[in-house]
Amino acid sequence: MSMIKAHHLAVSYGHGDNAIKVVRDVSFEVAKGETFGLVGESGCGKSTILGALAGRNRQWNGSIEIDGEAIGQKRTRAQLAKQQLVFQDPFGSIHPRHTIGRTLLEPLEIHGKDRRQERIEKVLTDVGLPLNFRYRYPHQLSGGQRQRVAIARALILEPTILLLDEPTSALDVSIQAEILNLLKDLREREKLTYILVSHDLAVVAHLCDRVAIMQNGEFVEIASRQQLLENTVQHSYTRVLMDGSRGYVAGAHDHLRRRPRTSLPA
Ligand SMILES: Nc1ncnc2c1ncn2[C@@H]1O[C@H](COP(=O)(O)OP(=O)(O)OP(=O)(O)O)[C@@H](O)[C@H]1O
Ligand SMILES: [Mg+2]
Repeated sequence: MSMIKAHHLAVSYGHGDNAIKVVRDVSFEVAKGETFGLVGESGCGKSTILGALAGRNRQWNGSIEIDGEAIGQKRTRAQLAKQQLVFQDPFGSIHPRHTIGRTLLEPLEIHGKDRRQERIEKVLTDVGLPLNFRYRYPHQLSGGQRQRVAIARALILEPTILLLDEPTSALDVSIQAEILNLLKDLREREKLTYILVSHDLAVVAHLCDRVAIMQNGEFVEIASRQQLLENTVQHSYTRVLMDGSRGYVAGAHDHLRRRPRTSLPA
């Protein structure tokens, strides 16, 4: 079953004469439990697609279906809770003067959820953070720990979809593997569906079943993980991306696989 269906999706910014279409006619489906990658040069429209799916970019045409339900221009709270975004820079997305507990509490209050402390404890455990981290502030955490908090916040409303926008590119290489493996574990445990934006083909090959290669607001190719690992992609632009990381994708994919650590010591 498809968890996400986007058909002839186009997204623009600005109005009237100033309107610019930055995503042009992309169509894709993501199966339940699948991880679908988006790669392509800076400015090609990857984050814009995630924004449209998440309900942040309202100027879109075409059709979007989430979990079998057609999405309109205006969404209900329940529809908004179903997919959550995780950004590259957790410092930018977590309030610097709120404790982690408060950051996690806020979405629960907005959505009128019960059992708040229990839910906070569950997500902290799920992302491998000690429970007493709820009393800490973001500046008292490492980059990797902050990204765990950003993931915890995305999970607190029990979404079915995570939209991951370069979730590891601000992190040290050694920490990247930890976070990627955490995301992998969570996907299996919580039966999540992911869309992952990354410029790193090794990361994409590690996590994604299929990947759309974008150029200038359009998909030039949708490749399978197998094609990435065997370097049998079709389109010339995909080949350019692959050549930039030749020999690296398969090797780094292996390296990531050998690092199972997903939680921190308490
Ligand atoms: N709020 C906005 N208003 C106007 N134009 C925007 C806005 N946000 C993005 N754009 C433009 O839309 C295009 C696509 O941007 P987008 O952020 O989706 O790119 P991206 O593929 O995510 O790039 P990157 O890899 O650098 O994050 C770019 O040309 C960008 O300048
Ligand atoms: Mg982006």
